[in-house]
Amino acid sequence: MKNKKTVAVLYGGRSAEHEISLISAKNVLKAIDKNKYDIVEIHIDKQGLWTINNQAVQLLLNYGEGSIINQKTAEIVARIDVLYPVLHGPYGEDGTIQAVAKLAGLPCVGPNTLSSAVSMDKDVAKRLLQASNIKVAKFITIRKQSSDKPNFGEITKYLGNELFVKPANMGSSVGVSFADNEADYNKALIEAFKYDDKVIVEEKIKGREIECAVLGNYNPKSTVPGEIVPTTNFYSYKSKYIDENGAILQVPSKLSAELSDKAMKVAVEAFQCLECKGMSRVDMFLTDDNEFIINEINTIPGFTEISMYPKLWEYSGVSATELTGMLIEFAIEEFEYKSKLEYEYVAE
Ligand SMILES: Nc1ncnc2c1ncn2[C@@H]1O[C@H](COP(=O)(O)OP(=O)(O)O)[C@@H](O)[C@H]1O
Ligand SMILES: [Mg+2]
Repeated sequence: MKNKKTVAVLYGGRSAEHEISLISAKNVLKAIDKNKYDIVEIHIDKQGLWTINNQAVQLLLNYGEGSIINQKTAEIVARIDVLYPVLHGPYGEDGTIQAVAKLAGLPCVGPNTLSSAVSMDKDVAKRLLQASNIKVAKFITIRKQSSDKPNFGEITKYLGNELFVKPANMGSSVGVSFADNEADYNKALIEAFKYDDKVIVEEKIKGREIECAVLGNYNPKSTVPGEIVPTTNFYSYKSKYIDENGAILQVPSKLSAELSDKAMKVAVEAFQCLECKGMSRVDMFLTDDNEFIINEINTIPGFTEISMYPKLWEYSGVSATELTGMLIEFAIEEFEYKSKLEYEYVAE
């Protein structure tokens, strides 16, 4: 009997965050304890083709089999026990891969399909958070197909003059713009609609950017918060990944113990509100009157050298190796809980 579980790490992917995924995956692969787990690397290219060692592959969806087959020869290339998606943005962080895992009968690291999909959709996520009395920025949702999109004047009446315009489903600040005049607002809409046919426009929140790393299934724990201090006008794609001096990450944040506790509490509430399991990074703003406003929940947070999620856990005494191990075990635990439920057809 094989006692080591095989973990398939999926990376790359079709989203605009393909490159970030490659960097995150490099660190995840390095961190996973090879004494405990065997690893299969599945690279997904920008067209969506899955390969293992340059062989085009496909996950065979025979329930519980976890076999990966060569698309051409139909031979089994690998057998796996757990899927570990390190994919950011659409087609990975949005519930799609999580659904593949469910169909295949495999544990999957991170939140499930429902939770991934709602967390990815900034409009739906905010509506759910609001319904649980968790504070979010005021926002308006605009659909590409709508024939009466609100113009700048109408928007500013409700949201004020300083606006953030973003695709509802995206990440890494791709398609996100700040606008405080009509021309920029119209440009921002065009930019955001490139990535999604649903866009949200938000009031600008004046505040500090605080992030908490949450881990666990039914008793999730948050790290102390970290703080992002962008040195440009906002935490853009460039300041996240390109410009080394684009943002300063403070781990831990310099918040008082009281505010730090409050942030951790809000982070866990938001995590549970969106039905997250395993992991998520909860991003929020802290306003001048010490109020936490949730910005977004990232269900597959970045795992690059400079990423907040692994850094916060490392600060809390959990190494990247321990962290990836815990994530894998949480996925298995959740899978086993769900396997005991009797929602499947049982022949009489
Ligand atoms: N309502 C807002 N008020 C102030 N800053 C914002 C607001 N929305 C976004 N930002 C800035 O833009 C960045 C990216 O926006 P975010 O919603 O986090 O998108 P993404 O999912 O791409 O990371 C944030 O980290 C923050 O710096
Ligand atoms: Mg963000």
